[in-house]
Amino acid sequence: TYVVTDACIACKYTDCVEVCPVDCFYEGENFLVIKPEECIDCGVCEPECPVDAIKPDTEDPDGKWVEINAKYAEVWPNITVAKPPLPDADKMANVENKLETLFS
Ligand code: SF4
Ligand code: F3S
Repeated sequence: TYVVTDACIACKYTDCVEVCPVDCFYEGENFLVIKPEECIDCGVCEPECPVDAIKPDTEDPDGKWVEINAKYAEVWPNITVAKPPLPDADKMANVENKLETLFS
């Protein structure tokens, strides 16, 4: 599976959702996740994200992001159409380690 990681938090550009052939993105208040059981590993979303938040799970060796994506994909609604990014997205794009600011 591919997973959405830290860089998406507080940005949420949503370019990714437009290209997914199986519509497996789910939307929280300030973060998106991929549902691992639905992702077909096509990789087309990865280059679409302007902040490189989307990674293959091979780049998540301890499984932390797979766990977070799986957990919230169960409770957040599906998103298939792009929308404007969060208001502070450009300011937050280069901030690191945003996980503690995730609204769950
Ligand atoms: Fe969707 Fe493909 Fe990205 Fe998985 S890798 S989330 S199937 S676009
Ligand atoms: Fe997030 Fe990047 Fe998609 S910022 S919403 S993973 S395009």
